[in-house]
Amino acid sequence: MENIVIQGGVPLVGSVESSGAKNAALPLLAAAILADGAVTFHRIPHLNDISTMTKLLAWQGADVSYDDRNRLTIDTRAANKPEAPYELVKTMRASSLVLGPLLVRFGEARVSLPGGCAIGARPIDLHLKALEVMGAEITVEHGDVIAKATHGLKGGYIFFEQVTVTGTENIMMAAVLADGETILDNAAREPEVVNLADSLRALGAKIEGDGTGTITIQGVSSISGGDIYTIADRIETATYLAAGLITGGDVTVTKTDAKYLDAFLAKAKESGAEVEVGDDFIRCAAPHGLKAVNIHTMPHPGFPTDLQAQFMAMMCVAEGTSLISETIFENRFMHVQELIRMGADIQLDGHTAVVKGVAKLSAAPVMATDLRASASLVLAGAAAEGETVISRVYHIDRGYERIEEKMRCLGAKIERHYVS
Ligand code: EPZ
Repeated sequence: MENIVIQGGVPLVGSVESSGAKNAALPLLAAAILADGAVTFHRIPHLNDISTMTKLLAWQGADVSYDDRNRLTIDTRAANKPEAPYELVKTMRASSLVLGPLLVRFGEARVSLPGGCAIGARPIDLHLKALEVMGAEITVEHGDVIAKATHGLKGGYIFFEQVTVTGTENIMMAAVLADGETILDNAAREPEVVNLADSLRALGAKIEGDGTGTITIQGVSSISGGDIYTIADRIETATYLAAGLITGGDVTVTKTDAKYLDAFLAKAKESGAEVEVGDDFIRCAAPHGLKAVNIHTMPHPGFPTDLQAQFMAMMCVAEGTSLISETIFENRFMHVQELIRMGADIQLDGHTAVVKGVAKLSAAPVMATDLRASASLVLAGAAAEGETVISRVYHIDRGYERIEEKMRCLGAKIERHYVS
């Protein structure tokens, strides 16, 4: 096991470079299953889930070769196992992303049903219903989704009763090689969905409307190999900007894109932050501290649920009382008890957290419970005077590439300790 140890209380000042987005890279890698040729992926972050996905593709028979830490080439033409077994994917929730591509390419697929996780049940019923509309026969046996489409998948009209990011991505990929036109209504509008559509178009797919609530895909017989570029990680970007704001510092994140973060930046400004944006950087500073503001998580372009925990940490030391409502996941307040251990004044009322700002947080030993909760504890530790020890940091490594190195670029006193 590993701990992260932070000596906090120092304003963080400096510049870090954003990595490629985890939540863009995972569907992009799954899309390699559709390509009739080698695909080279650029700016792929070095994270546990990414390694799991590339190992899965190699196990299926693909040829996977890393050109360097963040660039790899995948050729799935020799792949012949349309499966994602539990043993291989049990730690990666996004395994469902290979279901649509495997089914439309091989006419069958057996994919381990993703388990729940700390933040919620995480069902994939909407993915499965959509595939059935396209002609798939779906059963669930012994924890696996077994899908068959012996006559191939056919295009259809699909309305997502709830906005689902990976559901939109999964079905968009299946529709690329399906027979005829598919319309996805009430589709997710996240930048990662647009990155996937842009990439599939570059390989020959016919997709329109991505970034809006209605996406139309005309099925084609094949798509080629080529080069695919991952967008900047907007959640990582905002996490480091929040590190500057919570400590009263001044942080710039480079190689990123402010257009992905309108909701976060609007709330940061409302809270009194100075915000400066350029073509490929964002700078935030809070020389006069922060004022409490309310947030309500929503699908993009609303305030991202993946930034709720980080923003809550900021509000713990803001002036006034903030109401934070989590509308996407049923259990995404696991960080609250840990922040309270650090002196935060938070009361939960159903899906709303009432956060009363305090003058200072106090360093303490705390436990990471899920990816973004862990990030909020790193931010709180950076703000709290004294030594904060965060255990179970494997959660952090799922979404933040080289977090200690990047935090040190901002002046943080942070180390990773290996504990038996
Ligand atoms: C994606 O998860 C992201 N993961 C999550 O990021 C992110 O929090 C989430 O979208 C929301 O933005 C990846 O992209 C790999 P959903 P996803 O399907 O697609 C319910 C992180 O921290 N739902 O949009 O799994 C679901 O329970 C991670 O980086 C169904 O009921 O989320 C949830 O309440 C965490 N049935 C809501 O919809 C379904 O079939 C939104 O889930 C699918 C979803």
